[in-house]
Amino acid sequence: MVGASDLAFRLLCRRHGADCAYTEMLDARRFVGEPEYASSLFWSQLGGAADRPLVAQFCGNEPDELVAAARLVETHVDAVDLNLGCPQARAKEGVYGAYLLDDHHWPRVFAIVDALAAALSVPVTCKVRLCDSLDQTLAFAAGLQRAGCKLVACHGRLRGSATRRRSGPADLAAVAALAASLRIPTLTNGNALLADPALFAREATGRRCGTSDRRGLALEYLDLATAHPPPSLDYARAHLGYMLGRSGAGARLAYKHSHWDPHALRQALLAAASLRQLQSLAAAAFGRGGRRWRVEQPPPWWGGGEALSVEGGSGEADADADAGGAAAEPPPRRCQCLWLYVSRHERVYVTRHHVCFRFGFRVVTLTGTLITVV
Ligand SMILES: Cc1cc2nc3c(=O)[nH]c(=O)nc-3n(C[C@H](O)[C@H](O)[C@H](O)COP(=O)(O)O)c2cc1C
Repeated sequence: MVGASDLAFRLLCRRHGADCAYTEMLDARRFVGEPEYASSLFWSQLGGAADRPLVAQFCGNEPDELVAAARLVETHVDAVDLNLGCPQARAKEGVYGAYLLDDHHWPRVFAIVDALAAALSVPVTCKVRLCDSLDQTLAFAAGLQRAGCKLVACHGRLRGSATRRRSGPADLAAVAALAASLRIPTLTNGNALLADPALFAREATGRRCGTSDRRGLALEYLDLATAHPPPSLDYARAHLGYMLGRSGAGARLAYKHSHWDPHALRQALLAAASLRQLQSLAAAAFGRGGRRWRVEQPPPWWGGGEALSVEGGSGEADADADAGGAAAEPPPRRCQCLWLYVSRHERVYVTRHHVCFRFGFRVVTLTGTLITVV
């Protein structure tokens, strides 16, 4: 995954039960033309035997470019994957990823797979999304199979738009129908972020992932990242955001046992300037009774309004008592507030310009403020 499938994370996944890992999506043209890009995202992230089997994933739309990029890596990986699932705006601009699912691009896609299969000593695989209808999905995948694709990983979602990529659960029944229609193996994909991405193999054991598991997982990743630094600190920030804070599907799915609200955690992660600082942050996560966060810059409306006392250890009890009597949510009101007590009962709503923390029935709206941990 872009910004996430660094070597340390792949090794972590393998320790917790993954049999195989993919690199993040690599742009074939840049991989061939920009040595720094290839070095940062691929060559610096090779882990030898401990990180095999490994699939290198490329995106692109020119057979020659994809073949050239794939040939550079073929002796270091066990398969080469063509990304036909990326829905992002840059994929739309560059006409790659899920934007190659439109049927007028199919001949080009099949030519790419054919060229890769002919040129490489390792198998060619494809990651796809669902096409507009099941019939189209089956026809497209059958074409990939004919062209020499040896495995299809299907993300059970439509492409959607560049900004709206998930609505509701993935359609795993469609993936099952696809699997039944192909001779080659099908990997099912989707709904990962609706479950708990920190669970890994624990799901199979039937045990819930508790806070110590989450902190342990984050620290384990950071140990691996210290030994095998990711391309940038943002990779580690992203992993800790998921492991300590919330699922990727938004504040609605914030873990109930986490008292980190997504916005405050994000601020703390951004403020950390090294893996060591991230280690301190992870070690301090899930302490008893919530954490205090300070508003560093007074908001524009500072100097008036009602003072909201949320400092100290009473936040959870207050919230419990308040929640019982709160039938309907009152409109947000502005409060003077120096300290925010972040408890696991709090809910957070984040929009582009506002951060609204709800404490029981009380709502605090902060605009243009910076929150850092103290
Ligand atoms: C941050 C992020 C980066 C991703 N990067 C890639 C990628 O490089 N290649 C890929 O095939 N899928 C990528 N994906 C998609 C995931 O592999 C996967 O298909 C998706 O998260 C499935 O789960 P969901 O639909 O339930 O969220 C990415 C997803 C996320 C959230």
